[in-house]
Amino acid sequence: MMSPEKSIDDLSTEARPVHITVNGTPGQHSVQPRTHLIDFLREDLGLKGSHLGCEHGVCGACTVRLDGQIVRGCLVLAVQTDGRRVDTIEGLSDSGAIRDLQQAFIRHNALQCGFCTSGMLMAASELLEQKPRASREEVREWMSGNYCRCTGYQAIVNAICEVLATRQAARIEGATA
Ligand code: FES
Ligand code: FES
Repeated sequence: MMSPEKSIDDLSTEARPVHITVNGTPGQHSVQPRTHLIDFLREDLGLKGSHLGCEHGVCGACTVRLDGQIVRGCLVLAVQTDGRRVDTIEGLSDSGAIRDLQQAFIRHNALQCGFCTSGMLMAASELLEQKPRASREEVREWMSGNYCRCTGYQAIVNAICEVLATRQAARIEGATA
């Protein structure tokens, strides 16, 4: 007679219910314990903006926000985001919050194949919020965790520095108006 108890293999593959708010929309999902966040976003939710590159937390192509802070999505299991908020490039883009950054990337030719671009934009958007007066050197350091294999970093740094300067000028103008 078979034991009614589940084996360790059963437990490790059995889908579990999770409640995750993705890009502002709460939802209940069923995910396997070993599914990492990016596979869940791409395969279960169809949000293909985040990419998987190294899958070792090195390249930054998988960058998303978890409860408002950027994380490497390839190092997070979907079940770990139960009860939490996840924001992806799709949500950030739809909100209009980084329109100036996206336009600067286009103006400066800061992308070619686009594989790294969502991660670059996610990282840069957090920089713009946390370090609005960042120097070029600080931008280079902040973005050093995101790899681009085809554009080169000069154009990416140029685009971010331009947005920093434009936003700074707008703030000064707003304060003196
Ligand atoms: S795929 Fe996550 S850091 Fe490279
Ligand atoms: S634009 Fe191709 S990897 Fe960055």
